[in-house]
Amino acid sequence: MSTIDYSDKIPNNVNLAEDRTLKRALEQWQPNYLKWWGDMGPDGSQDFEVYLRTAVSVDPQGWAQFGYVKMPEYRWGIFLNPGEKDRKIHFGDHKGEAAWQDVPGEHRANLRRIIVTQGDTEPASVEQQRHLGLTCPSQYDLRNLFQVNVEEGRHLWAMVYLLHKYFGRDGREEGEALLQRRSGDHDHPRILRAFNEETPDWLAFFMFTYFTDRDGKFQLCALAESSFDPLARTTKFMLTEEAHHMFVGESGVSRVINRTCQAMNELKTDDVATLRSAGVIDLPTIQRYLNFHFSVTIDLFGADESSNAATFYSSGLKGRFEEGKRADDHLLKGQTYKVLSLQGGQFVEREVPMLNALNEVLRDDYIKDSVGGVERWNKVVEKAGIAFRLKVPHKAFHRNIGALAGAKVSPDGRVVSDAEWNANVEMWLPSGADRAFVASLMGRVVEPGRFANWIAPPTIGINRQPVDFEYVRFN
Ligand SMILES: [Fe+2]
Ligand SMILES: [Fe+2]
Repeated sequence: MSTIDYSDKIPNNVNLAEDRTLKRALEQWQPNYLKWWGDMGPDGSQDFEVYLRTAVSVDPQGWAQFGYVKMPEYRWGIFLNPGEKDRKIHFGDHKGEAAWQDVPGEHRANLRRIIVTQGDTEPASVEQQRHLGLTCPSQYDLRNLFQVNVEEGRHLWAMVYLLHKYFGRDGREEGEALLQRRSGDHDHPRILRAFNEETPDWLAFFMFTYFTDRDGKFQLCALAESSFDPLARTTKFMLTEEAHHMFVGESGVSRVINRTCQAMNELKTDDVATLRSAGVIDLPTIQRYLNFHFSVTIDLFGADESSNAATFYSSGLKGRFEEGKRADDHLLKGQTYKVLSLQGGQFVEREVPMLNALNEVLRDDYIKDSVGGVERWNKVVEKAGIAFRLKVPHKAFHRNIGALAGAKVSPDGRVVSDAEWNANVEMWLPSGADRAFVASLMGRVVEPGRFANWIAPPTIGINRQPVDFEYVRFN
């Protein structure tokens, strides 16, 4: 089970060779995927040899191998974690029954929708990031970008495998549609809003991989609990890859902050104009980027009250974060959860049925998790002896989904008038001038061991290689 067949055209550990129909269907999808990668994958990178990790096993010890690969030749494949013997459903109305090895008819439409929605985010982020290679701050960062990109491509494979294997003809059609939608496209956009936003610069990329890939982690964790066993097993392996994406974000932002603090101490100033002319990104701008990415990402969890969320849970399709570690009855009937809304300009907490509030439960778990990294960023500022502190904004700030959608609330959680919002919005969210300034810093640095002025080098390289290792050969 844990060995991957690399002699196959499509590397896999699912015995693809024995399922001729499925193998044929996926082999027909493969060239379309490669065409998509050629059109929408990293701009101008086709000939680069990149020091990438490739999954070679699903054994937690040594699952990956590092080596130079031209990205269009990356071995995208299908890797599921080993099945758990006699796995039982552990939440919802089917609790205690055997986990499903096939899709029950009555849950087919919902499961397909869940898989398609997850699958759609994977190519979307590759599309969002496709121009970033042209302005990389170093080879090390360029390689990390490409690593994230090829793995998001593999995550698409993971979802398309499920669609092809378990959903017949409509699954194959969804597989095609996943290659046809485009991030930000007016007529054929990606499904979720945050995946139609641009990722125009590297600060946005680091914020995206910290905040939005972490949304991915929470969605995948919830799906890793699923009663549909193949979905649980494939998402568990995706989580192994996902950890690196969040590392890229957390360490990336941390290095930007580090460099800014260094310049603040050298120049003995916190004056924004002075710091900008020294070519570093001032902390208030970093805070505004944080506010933007955090607020857009928490919208991804959906409406705070949702009958779909209740159905997905009760029917066993999607669990909570760390469902197995929770000490309640895993049915949640008759229980309630506090949901925040606004009434007459005041925040009120309403008790709503827990089952209907499961999007909010997942969002709150996410918020707790994302605060941790922000605290680690603050340690960098603190260590530099600077008084500034970064903060995640209030949950009601800049929301577009659910009961708080459209509310005018400051990052520190005050309900404000339209006039106050308009007067301050450029202090709270990145302005056109902020984005133009950050864009002005984005030049391409590709000599091994050199880094753009606005970001500090990492402390260690990838796979214990030196920081000045040749991570990309440009040919
Ligand atoms: Fe992903
Ligand atoms: Fe990711």
